[in-house]
Amino acid sequence: MTNASRAHSTAEMATAYGFEPVAEGQKQERVDGVFHSVASRYDLMNDIMSVGVHRLWKSVMVTKAAPSKTRPWHSLDVAGGTGDIAFRLVEASNKNANVTVLDINGSMLEVGRERAVKNGLSDHVDFVEANAEELPFEDNSFDAYTVAFGIRNVPHMDRALAEAYRVLKPGGQFLCLEFSDVDVPFLDKFYDAWSFSGIPAIGRVVTGDAESYRYLVESIRKFPNQDAFAAAVRKAEFARVDYRNMTGGIAALHTGWKI
Ligand SMILES: C[S@@+](CC[C@H](N)C(=O)[O-])C[C@H]1O[C@@H](n2cnc3c(N)ncnc32)[C@H](O)[C@@H]1O
Repeated sequence: MTNASRAHSTAEMATAYGFEPVAEGQKQERVDGVFHSVASRYDLMNDIMSVGVHRLWKSVMVTKAAPSKTRPWHSLDVAGGTGDIAFRLVEASNKNANVTVLDINGSMLEVGRERAVKNGLSDHVDFVEANAEELPFEDNSFDAYTVAFGIRNVPHMDRALAEAYRVLKPGGQFLCLEFSDVDVPFLDKFYDAWSFSGIPAIGRVVTGDAESYRYLVESIRKFPNQDAFAAAVRKAEFARVDYRNMTGGIAALHTGWKI
């Protein structure tokens, strides 16, 4: 099932709301509805759905981003939602780094703002409501660009990748963590059953919204596989593009550099 349903290009994702084809221009509104609906329970659901493993995947991304502990270092976390990656980056830098969290969804950002205050990190993290396809920043502004489990929700991924390249400083690193193609016998069968039956059922109990979690699962299966996404990152002019699979390819971390 996994590869048969996958989009072969980033362009195909613009009119795919999960497995449902939608007209050009309609996907974003539907996606926004999903995240307005689940925002208050989003972090709890991440822990339940991944049995906590998303924390390990995020740690790998943060280690790879290597935020400086001494010199000024400012990164942009796109589709940053409730701030998970930003908080980890700031902590990994011993509170030296500054991170801008950008998301199109005010409900997700509101949860993030509250968490920043609660964690005593508000001085290092700021929140911007905007679209990944049209970043409100000057060229060459950031030392790193991160996006975790976000890019598959952005309708025009090619525009988001072009914007990532534009706002990075020369020498800056692009890092994208996303669900990907599982290539381990038996794990794929178990993962299919958990994704299509388990997750929507748990979503219904925890958030009262099984449909949103059905979209999230389907959107994972539509997202281009590791090699196709690496090709899209290269097309956006990034150099030394590479990826590493985690947990048998359930997630993959793609990286590249603006040189
Ligand atoms: C699955 S959440 C990921 C949140 C966070 N990065 C994490 O790892 O927990 C996806 C996020 O993408 C955001 N998003 C969707 N379309 C977007 C767009 N066009 N521009 C910016 N953010 C977008 C959603 O609002 C949502 O907060």
